[in-house]
Amino acid sequence: MIIFADEIHGDLTRRGQEFHPILTLADPENIIAATAVNKTFNLAGLHATNLVIQNPELRKRIELSLPFILPSPFTIAATIAAYDEGEEWLEQLIDYLDGNIDFVIESLREKMPKAKCRRPEGTYILWIDLRDYEMTPEEIHHRIYDEAGVILEGGEMFCENLGKGFERICVPSPRSVLKEAIDRMAAAMNR
Ligand SMILES: Cc1ncc(COP(=O)(O)O)c(C=O)c1O
Repeated sequence: MIIFADEIHGDLTRRGQEFHPILTLADPENIIAATAVNKTFNLAGLHATNLVIQNPELRKRIELSLPFILPSPFTIAATIAAYDEGEEWLEQLIDYLDGNIDFVIESLREKMPKAKCRRPEGTYILWIDLRDYEMTPEEIHHRIYDEAGVILEGGEMFCENLGKGFERICVPSPRSVLKEAIDRMAAAMNR
């Protein structure tokens, strides 16, 4: 079995948590690991992902199956610059994201007490359980998306059955923006 491990959020772990890349855990023979500067350095516009494939035969198969796309010189320079010189920036980002996660969870507890949300060990994505509001998933999404004007993704986007009553929120924004989003969501959900 070939495992494709999408590890592009792997640089964004909470303080005190450790990320274990699959290539340090399992036989690399049948593994394709994907890493990227996209999320870590907010460079999705470069359209670049690294595929780490140690098995030369598997690498050849993948190369032959992909269209031939050469990264632009700008993409190459930006990727090298991010990895070589972005560490200090990333350290600051991780502290800021940890703060954002705590801020959102605390604000939800205070302003939307029926919402439940677990502190994730990595990434900037929170999965909010709104089932205690006892509304249909459509009503929840309508209130948040249309009434509050906060563009979240409904849980059903990710799992048709189990996602019902959940919303996904990404929080790598300035804290002032998050505060406004939660205030507006709370007003729409608690009315
Ligand atoms: C886990 C994961 N993999 C891959 C992607 C795709 O990233 P991109 O389109 O920037 O290559 C995303 C983007 O949301 C993601 O969250």
